[in-house]
Amino acid sequence: GFDDPDGFRALAERLDAIDREHGTGGNRLFYLAVPPSAFPTIVRALQAAGLDRPGENGSWSRVVVEKPIGHDLASANELNDAIQEVFDERAVFRIDHYLGKETVQNLLVFRFANAIFEPLWNTKYVDHVQITVAETIGVEGRGAYFEEAGITRDSLQNHLFQLLCLVAMEPPVSWDADAIRDEKVKVLRALRPVEPSEVSDVTVRAQYGAGVSGGASVPGYREEDGVSPTSTTETYVAHQMHVDNWRWAGVPFLLRAGKRLPERVTEVAMQFRDVPHRLFRHAGGERPAPNSLILRIQPDEGITLRFDAKRPGSQPSIEPVAMNMYYGEEFGKAPPEAYERLLLDAVLGDGTLFIRRDEVDCAWSYVDRLLEGWREQDLSELPEYTAGTWGPGEAQVLVAKGCLLY
Ligand code: BG6
Repeated sequence: GFDDPDGFRALAERLDAIDREHGTGGNRLFYLAVPPSAFPTIVRALQAAGLDRPGENGSWSRVVVEKPIGHDLASANELNDAIQEVFDERAVFRIDHYLGKETVQNLLVFRFANAIFEPLWNTKYVDHVQITVAETIGVEGRGAYFEEAGITRDSLQNHLFQLLCLVAMEPPVSWDADAIRDEKVKVLRALRPVEPSEVSDVTVRAQYGAGVSGGASVPGYREEDGVSPTSTTETYVAHQMHVDNWRWAGVPFLLRAGKRLPERVTEVAMQFRDVPHRLFRHAGGERPAPNSLILRIQPDEGITLRFDAKRPGSQPSIEPVAMNMYYGEEFGKAPPEAYERLLLDAVLGDGTLFIRRDEVDCAWSYVDRLLEGWREQDLSELPEYTAGTWGPGEAQVLVAKGCLLY
C-alpha cells in the first residue's frame, strides 16, 4: 500500500545506496503519478521515512504531482494543505503538461519577443478570442475517472485556463518563475465570475453518442467501460467568458473542449475588429473576412495570419488569404515530449512551467460556480452529439450571442 512504512524505509535505504554508489548528492524528486486521493498518504509516508528533508550540502527533496488537484476548491485546498504540511510550496511542482508543449511556451515568445503583435493585443483591436482543444479520442479506457471529472474538470479548469492565462496576461517584469505566475494569477483574478443562475446562458455542455470516428463505428459515452448508462457527465463544453480588466474589457473569450470531435486540433484564434470604414463593401469576390491570427498548438504546429487581398484583375475583388509558419519546416525536427521538459525543469528546480497554488485556487473558484450552476439544472436534458461531429447544435446558441464557432 501507499502507506507501508517498510516500503518507504526500503526506498530510503535504496536511495542512500544509490547516492553512495553514484555520488548523486542526496537530491530527491518524488513524482506522484497516482490518484490524487493518495497524495496525502504518500507525502506523510515520505516524511515518516525522513525522505522529505533536504540532506546535507544543499541537497533537496521535491515532489511532483499530477492533475487533477481536487475536484473543486474545497478538495483542492485539502490536498494542497496536506502536501504543504510536509513540503514547502517551492518544493511542490504541480504539472499541467500543456505548459511543457513548445507551442504553448511560444505564446509568450510570440507576444513578448516581437514588437508588432503586442500593440494589437487588446480590446481596441481584438474582437474575440477562441481557444479550442478538440480531440478525436473518446475516454480511452479511463471511463471511471472521466465519470467523476467530466471535460470541465479534466481539461477546461487546467489546460484551457493555462492557455487563456498565457494569451491574456500582461508582460511579466522578468523571465522569472514567480514574475510569470504572478501575471497569470492576475488574469484568473480578473475573470468575471458567472452567477450560477446564468450558467446556461454562457455554457453548453454535452455528451457524445455513438457515431463514426476515423472511419470506424464507435460507441456512445454511456456505453464506455466504467461509465453509467444514465451518466450526465459532459464530454464537450463550450464557455464564453470575460477577462474584466483594462486590456480585455468587452472582448469575449470562447473556450471549448470536446472528445470524439472530427479532428484533433488545439489552437488559439484571435479575431480582429473590422476596419472602421468599409471602402470595399461593393467589391466582388468573397465578403472581406475579418483579420485573424491562429496559433496552432497541435498537431499541425504553427501560426497563420489571415488577411484580405486584392484578387488580380481589373475589377475590385477581395479574397481572404493566409500567411503560414510551420514549426516542422522552420525548425526541422519534432519538439521534445512535454514531460521531458517538465521533469527536467523539476530536477533543475525551475517552477516557471508549473502551477502555483494560487493559480489552482483561482481556477477552481471560477469553475466551482459553473459546476454549481449545472447542479441546479435538470441534467437529464444534457444534449447529445454524434461522435465524429463538431459538438451539439446548442453550441450555436453561443454563436448567436456573438461568438463564432467554426
Ligand atoms: C489530459 C486529459 O490531461 O490531457 C485527457 O486528462 C486529454 O483527457 C489529454 O486527452 C490531452 O492531452 P494532449 O497532450 O493530447 O492534448
